[in-house]
Amino acid sequence: MKTFAIAVLVFGILPFAGNVQAAGGGDYPHSPGVNMQDRASLQRGAALFVDNCMGCHSLEYKRYGRVGEDLGIPEDLVLEHLNFTTEEIGSRMEIGFPEDDAQDFFGVAPPDLTNVTRWESPDYVYSFLLGFYEDESRPFGYNNEVFDNVGMPHVMERMERELDEEEFRQAMFDITNFLYYVGDPVKLERERMGAYVLFFLALLFIPAYLLKKEYWKDVH
Ligand code: HEC
Repeated sequence: MKTFAIAVLVFGILPFAGNVQAAGGGDYPHSPGVNMQDRASLQRGAALFVDNCMGCHSLEYKRYGRVGEDLGIPEDLVLEHLNFTTEEIGSRMEIGFPEDDAQDFFGVAPPDLTNVTRWESPDYVYSFLLGFYEDESRPFGYNNEVFDNVGMPHVMERMERELDEEEFRQAMFDITNFLYYVGDPVKLERERMGAYVLFFLALLFIPAYLLKKEYWKDVH
């Protein structure tokens, strides 16, 4: 019985521990500690991403309507503030920048970022955004701590100058947090399911225990 109780505990807690670990990964200077429950951060991140990144990067596996639903942003606000390219709430978050031109400008086309926190990690994205430093030998005057000879210009240069360090970090955190959500939107759902499963296991424990007592009471 004891073993069973321990097993329930261990397997019940493991998925949660796994979650925390999955959010890390790699060896990067900054760790954002992403948090999908922080809705305000995700909403700010969405707005920052659309304003600063979507000139070059798409999120083509993501639809505006879904983002609005998940983050609790009403449809009219999504259309007004997030969706500048089309009028359709159901359309994908694509961009109009032709890939060939992008290739000419930057030497490499900016990748779609829907899954960037998966093929890399939130730590990588956060460190990348905080990692631009001046380097006169580069075409745009900047290089990056975690992406040597990066083709992306330091598009947050002005933001970094105008905000104090804490505010800038918060903004980069919000973008990272948003991209983390974009890469794994079902995670919110999964975490809720995990709690139900635990509850169910705990309930199951009671009849299982009583039944065991009943069966074994005459065995000596
Ligand atoms: C002016 C165009 C432009 C803008 C605006 C821009 N990027 Fe980029 N980005 C690029 C290019 C080009 C690359 C590819 C760099 C390379 O491969 O050398 C890139 C690469 C990246 C990468 C690395 C992907 C990888 O595979 O390692 C991340 C992460 C990224 N951008 C995030 C952002 C975020 C977040 C923003 C908004 C704050 C942003 N970018 C704004 C052009 C841009």
